[in-house]
Amino acid sequence: MNQTLSPAACLQGSVALPADKSIAHRAAMLAALSDGRSIVTNYPDAADPRSTLACLRQLGVQIDEEERGILVVQGGGLEGLQKPRAPLDCGNSGTTMRLLAGILAGQPFSSTLIGDASLTPRPMGRIADPLRQMNATVTLTDGHAPVTLAGGHPLRGIDYQLPMPSAQVKSCVLLAGLYAEGETTVIETIPSRDHTERMLGLDTLEMGDTRYLTITPGLRIPARTWTVPRDFSAAAFLLVASSIVSEGEVFMPGVGLNPTRSALLDVLRIMGADITVEYEREEGGERLADLKVRPAALHGVSVSGPLIPSLIDEIPILAVAAACAEGRTEIRDAAELRVKETDRIAAMVTNLRTLGADVEEFEDGLAITGGKPLTGAVVDSYDDHRIAMAMGVAALVASGQTTITNAEAARVSFPGFWDLLKRLARGE
Ligand code: S3P
Repeated sequence: MNQTLSPAACLQGSVALPADKSIAHRAAMLAALSDGRSIVTNYPDAADPRSTLACLRQLGVQIDEEERGILVVQGGGLEGLQKPRAPLDCGNSGTTMRLLAGILAGQPFSSTLIGDASLTPRPMGRIADPLRQMNATVTLTDGHAPVTLAGGHPLRGIDYQLPMPSAQVKSCVLLAGLYAEGETTVIETIPSRDHTERMLGLDTLEMGDTRYLTITPGLRIPARTWTVPRDFSAAAFLLVASSIVSEGEVFMPGVGLNPTRSALLDVLRIMGADITVEYEREEGGERLADLKVRPAALHGVSVSGPLIPSLIDEIPILAVAAACAEGRTEIRDAAELRVKETDRIAAMVTNLRTLGADVEEFEDGLAITGGKPLTGAVVDSYDDHRIAMAMGVAALVASGQTTITNAEAARVSFPGFWDLLKRLARGE
């Protein structure tokens, strides 16, 4: 599906953002492993979290959704999963594949995880290595999916220093640790999103910049109610969109502001964005607030180092903000972007240059000298939801018409994005 957009002078309105997909995957998985009946409220309609539900159902977990977004999950405890009859299809979702691999490594049965054309080439050696150290038998194809977990072997606890700041790898090892003999400790020197350890209630030992997360095997997960906050990574597109147009105000209530996720907010403010954070509160162990954003003159910024993982998913849209900012923005230490749903560095460099932006490409990032007028053109999503939406936002300030091809990719995390953007442009 193609989306063709015209420039918008004003974005105005209030937005109920989709729920956070990182937290949703984890809530569904932990509810499935819990002892009894859990409720998950505000479960998103987006394709990725729906892939997790489909896989859990194939593993014999009863999940009812009497009202859209309200799940009733009958947890069977750590030993309650059943051998699936067919490969588990993770669709486009790396989080589904990597976290489920951790859970499945310690099961008495074998299972295979498969994905779509974007997920299949993504690196899975990063989870197979620690799982093999834990005594799991993992089979990959050239380091990629399908991922087959033989099961049936007792796992052993390990100390594992993360070779890259990845919450998916961290979570995979911690979840496998539930099924190991002996404790498993994950050591991280660069912080990555901390939802898994928060939701499992793990103790964290911090020594300088190093965090030690230890999981005790057999840890029982109590049945409970999880409420999924609205997704900061979805808010990011509208924070930038409303900053770069000329008029209006966009209000987004109940957005998750976990500090390991929300660095873009600070970076946009340093760039000069006019964002108000109101009614800050804590719900279900996560920080939430209402966000209000108005247009502002942005200027360039340098982003690198340990901050990168806390805005890794927001870099495509940050690159759009940079193209509209005065001066140079440089983003480095972000080579992980090359192994996301697509190579996001290459995709943004190509797409922004197609619109006329001044962009330099590095192995680990990109630099943009902002302020050059953007001109509408045809750009591709590369079947990546965040590239599709970032280019949709760029289209709002490009002269003439911009067509985004394969724009349906947005449904992976933000169903309804295109209609929403058009509604805000009409001021509704
Ligand atoms: C995620 C972790 C990040 C992020 C992804 C979701 C998660 O990936 O990019 O969108 O929910 O754990 P990595 O752990 O591979 O960096």
